[in-house]
Amino acid sequence: MTFSEFFKNWTDKYYSQAVSVGKNGDFYTVVSVGNLFGVLLANYFLKLIDDKKLTLPVEVVEIGANEGHLMLDFIQALYTLRADVLGQIECYIIEPHEKLRNIQKKLFDEYELDVKIHNSLKECHFKNAFFYANELFDCFACELVKNKTMAYVDNDLNIVFKPMGEDLLKECEKYNIYNSELCIEYKSFLDELKQACKKLTFVCFDYAKKEEKFSIRMFKKHQVFDLFKENLKDFYAKSDITYNVNFEHFMQVLKEKGFEIVKHKNQNQVLIDFGLEEIIKQAKSTHPQIYKNFIKQSKNLMFGFGDKFKFLEFKL
Ligand SMILES: C[S@@+](CC[C@H](N)C(=O)[O-])C[C@H]1O[C@@H](n2cnc3c(N)ncnc32)[C@H](O)[C@@H]1O
Repeated sequence: MTFSEFFKNWTDKYYSQAVSVGKNGDFYTVVSVGNLFGVLLANYFLKLIDDKKLTLPVEVVEIGANEGHLMLDFIQALYTLRADVLGQIECYIIEPHEKLRNIQKKLFDEYELDVKIHNSLKECHFKNAFFYANELFDCFACELVKNKTMAYVDNDLNIVFKPMGEDLLKECEKYNIYNSELCIEYKSFLDELKQACKKLTFVCFDYAKKEEKFSIRMFKKHQVFDLFKENLKDFYAKSDITYNVNFEHFMQVLKEKGFEIVKHKNQNQVLIDFGLEEIIKQAKSTHPQIYKNFIKQSKNLMFGFGDKFKFLEFKL
């Protein structure tokens, strides 16, 4: 089978088991650092409203929420920062995996929060949506391309490169990809997004590709493994598989599909734009314990995740 089919089967099986992200899982994300990331995202959401870049009422939609912690942090932050806005938002999660949907539902029931959870964008109709996603696009299926060949996976899970067809060759030329991952899901995802929404703003964060080489790798209990060196039978569907997102490719497809790119920046720079300083100052004057905790979290967000991650905002 093609590598993209293999990748899709792998991530579907892996995430359908409802693996936890963080200390007890295979990898950390900014969400596992604590609630500060969600507080900053909520603060940015309020800034967009104040600057009239986002109008109320609005549907807030998370994709790739895993256990639902970021949505909880986001809503709780709105309660603290500006509770009056809560009456004008409706919260949604798009979650294809049943076990994860159940975990998310349990969490929101526990906090008595009304978050609607849908299987797919296909069953949604939003009038004016604010989407956010953290580390979603790094698990979209990709081909591995090397010069004019692409990867296939045989029955023993060995990777073999064979000449690619004309269509893929054209795609590689168009997006200037000749020795790395080529995501094949952007177009269909953006079509679904367009079908589901009249108007939208989408903000996302992901580990970004820096150079034209393979970044595909596996994470197991916080250790990184090389896909080309390991026996994949030991890892298939049991560990996370991921790669650095090619934002140049993604932005090119966004433009082709009629979306407008609003902002593209390093994640740690954007967290400052989101109001990191003002949030920490507020905590210092009111809650010394939270202040200490936020300082610890901000160091982790700024230096642990550093400038390897990028932020992208686009709208329709
Ligand atoms: C790397 S995890 C990120 C988890 C979480 N956002 C965080 O930051 O901790 C990726 C998540 O995206 C989900 N996912 C992947 N493709 C998706 C799609 N097309 N629609 C919805 N969720 C998807 C996976 O099931 C998984 O929960």
